[in-house]
Amino acid sequence: MRIDVVSAVPKILKSPLGESILKRAQQKNLVKIVVNDLRKYAKGNYRQVDDKPFGGGAGMVLKPEPMFECLEKLLSKRKYDEIIYLTPQGVKFNQKRANTLSLKENIILICGHYKGIDQRVIESFVTKEISIGDYVITGGETAAIVVIDAIVRLLPGVLGDSESALTDSFQTESGFDAPVYTRPAEYRGLKVPGILLGGNHKEIEKWRAEKGTKKYSKVKRKKINNK
Ligand code: ADE
Repeated sequence: MRIDVVSAVPKILKSPLGESILKRAQQKNLVKIVVNDLRKYAKGNYRQVDDKPFGGGAGMVLKPEPMFECLEKLLSKRKYDEIIYLTPQGVKFNQKRANTLSLKENIILICGHYKGIDQRVIESFVTKEISIGDYVITGGETAAIVVIDAIVRLLPGVLGDSESALTDSFQTESGFDAPVYTRPAEYRGLKVPGILLGGNHKEIEKWRAEKGTKKYSKVKRKKINNK
C-alpha cells in the first residue's frame, strides 16, 4: 500500500511517522508513506501557500495552485483509489472505515491548515472527506496520523502477533478490549484477577469476553479531588 500525504507543514508528520509501528512497517516495505511538501509546488520568492479568504473573514485559506500542481503530479504517476480531505465537515472516521481503507492500493490524504483549502480543490479532486471527530484541531496533519496509524496496523505483517489487530477494541463483537495486566501479580496490594494467573484458556477467554462488553467497560476510575 502507498499513502501520499499532502501538507503545508510536513514537519508535524515527521516524528509520528518515524517511530514505533509506523516506522517498522515502512522499513519492512509493508507500506510506503510519502509526505509531499505543498510549499515545493508554490511559486514566488515567498513560496506562499495560503491567502486571505475572498469575502473577508478570519483565518487563511490554502491556495488552489500549489495543491492542483501537487495532486496533478501524483495522479500522473499512478492511479489512486481515494483522495481524502481531512476536515471536521467530513464523514466520521471509525474502525470500519479504517478496515476499508486498509484494503486500498494507493490513497492520498490532504491536510488542511488554517481555515481550510480552496473549495475548487475539493470539487476537482477529492473523493471523500473524513473527520476524526466532532472537534476542530489546528491542522489536518494530526488527523492524518490518526488515520494512517489505524490503517497501517491492519496491514498483514505489521503487527507481530497476527491476531492482535483482530482482537482490538471495536473489532470484537462486544466492541471493547478487556482490561489487561502484566507482572507483578501483586503491586502495592493491588492484585491481578486470579483467573488470568491460572492458565485455563477457556476460562480466560470467557472472562475477557465478559469484561469486553459495554456493560463492564465502565471500570472504576480513581477520583481526583472527589470530582
Ligand atoms: N482538521 C481540523 N479538524 C479536523 C477534524 N476533526 N478531523 C479531520 N481533520 C480536521
